[in-house]
Amino acid sequence: MRIVSGIQPTGNLHLGNYLGAIRNWVSMQDEVAAQGGDSLYFLADLHAISMPHDPATLSANTREMVAALVACGVDPDRSILFNQTQVPQHAELQWLLNGTARMGWLNRMTQWKDKAGKNREGASVALFTYPVLQAADVLLYQATHVPVGEDQKQHLELARDIAQKFNNDFAPKDENGEDVPVFTLPAPIIPPEAARIMSLRDGSSKMSKSDPSDMARINLTDDADTIMQKVKKAKTDPEPLPSEKEGLEGRAEARNLVGIYAVMAGTTMEAVLSDFGGEGFGKFKPALGELLVEKLAPINARFVELRSDRGALDAILRKGSEKARALAVPTLDKAYEALGLVR
Ligand code: TYM
Repeated sequence: MRIVSGIQPTGNLHLGNYLGAIRNWVSMQDEVAAQGGDSLYFLADLHAISMPHDPATLSANTREMVAALVACGVDPDRSILFNQTQVPQHAELQWLLNGTARMGWLNRMTQWKDKAGKNREGASVALFTYPVLQAADVLLYQATHVPVGEDQKQHLELARDIAQKFNNDFAPKDENGEDVPVFTLPAPIIPPEAARIMSLRDGSSKMSKSDPSDMARINLTDDADTIMQKVKKAKTDPEPLPSEKEGLEGRAEARNLVGIYAVMAGTTMEAVLSDFGGEGFGKFKPALGELLVEKLAPINARFVELRSDRGALDAILRKGSEKARALAVPTLDKAYEALGLVR
């Protein structure tokens, strides 16, 4: 098994990132290490320049994100933790894959459509080719599994399509005339109960770093008062909670909060509803707030401890990128050779 996944260092780590992806990164790093495999987790800083950005903020956020991931339990001794920029093979492979990816495939990406909006002419080329870099990120390491939230599923399917077409078009033959595939087809790992954590202000849009309202998300760096405040102000409806899961249908905000409670408490939505069914949000919200504070407080404390040690954070990235480069080179070499590029 080889696990690869990334996160953009464009802001605070929030509860959606944590429940949708990072918790799986942490649990899988042990699983994979026990099997003698590797887990590689990286900061997608090259992806971050696809949208308007402030250079000083990007470098500060990159280091903060390292601190946040380590605080969540990503262990730089067991996993390879690095940023794309320090492993230039990502950008090199992207260029090679640009020859295989099709305009039509990229035009269908929902993230491209959402982020470019009506102003496609004004969007950066990087925003359009973003999914090709993401394909390079995982194919470069022959990733077998990619733990992500639901919103990244389409990008992962594209990575598989690119790998498949590249293998079909360019795989070299072995001595028996059989194709030797250049790339492994990666499988997404999406946690069913936390695939898509929604905004606290609007149950129809996902919790996101780019939401202009900070009240829409719980940041892993929020203190106890802020968390309680955000949960208390979360949008809900006037009905009491149902006793059965079916009763949450058509109640997106209530469903989201019950789902968050269940995942944080390590239980099921059914069990939460059997405890809180018939209760109003006046009782449920403080219970959810306290649960979040209890679970996030240790992460927050570790984050505060780590974030100011710039030397230690840079050392983690240096060490991680050295290991990542060593794993990246053989596949990149194969890709150049398969394409007939003379080096
Ligand atoms: P990013 O930085 O937006 O998010 C990082 C991870 O968090 C998950 N996530 C969520 N999960 C559940 N509910 C939510 N509300 C929520 N919001 C975010 C995302 O699905 C993701 O797993 N393009 C990627 C970064 C990337 C990448 C890669 C990921 C670049 N290369 C290669 C995997 C493999 C992104 O912008 O994620």
